[in-house]
Amino acid sequence: MALKQIDHGSKEYLKMVNLRNEILRKPLGLTFTDDELAGEKDDILIGAFDDDDLLACCMLTKADNSSLRLRQMAVQNNLQGKGIGASMMNFAEIVSRDKGYKKVIMHARETAVGFYEKLGYKVVGDKFTEVTIPHYVMEKKL
Ligand SMILES: CC(C)(COP(=O)(O)OP(=O)(O)OC[C@H]1O[C@@H](n2cnc3c(N)ncnc32)[C@H](O)[C@@H]1OP(=O)(O)O)[C@@H](O)C(=O)NCCC(=O)NCCS
Repeated sequence: MALKQIDHGSKEYLKMVNLRNEILRKPLGLTFTDDELAGEKDDILIGAFDDDDLLACCMLTKADNSSLRLRQMAVQNNLQGKGIGASMMNFAEIVSRDKGYKKVIMHARETAVGFYEKLGYKVVGDKFTEVTIPHYVMEKKL
């Protein structure tokens, strides 16, 4: 497996949008708008690849000068629970640190809180609803 950054608008980016749609949006009856995708052009886009196959992805959006917000974390359904998500988070944190950021924050789905806790993230605040489902703000100092 190779972990690498993806260019916005590239063919890898199209694979990323497809994976995010399959794993994160379609199950909720939602999709992406063109504006939403255009707004990602300055984000740090990350993929886990096996040759040309995209196994998993996530992205980091600047929250402020010292923090990035992790978003759109998705591992292919049949590959979950094999350590791919944890490896990709480790890579995302290395990229964040290399760029001088001090903290990663996120809106974590309630069903994924245990995954992020294993990686050292802490819930900070109350449950709220986003994309129709319960979430918590979580964060980790790098
Ligand atoms: C949540 C997700 C990103 C985790 O990635 P993954 O590759 O399946 O997880 P890993 O195999 O790397 O798991 C690492 C550890 O976290 C645990 N873990 C994984 N998913 C978990 C979950 N949903 N809840 C609690 N623990 C979880 C694993 O058991 C493993 O524990 P171990 O180190 O003791 O063996 C992935 O399952 C996924 O894409 N789920 C659907 C979409 C989603 O919920 N995305 C997150 C939105 S905030």
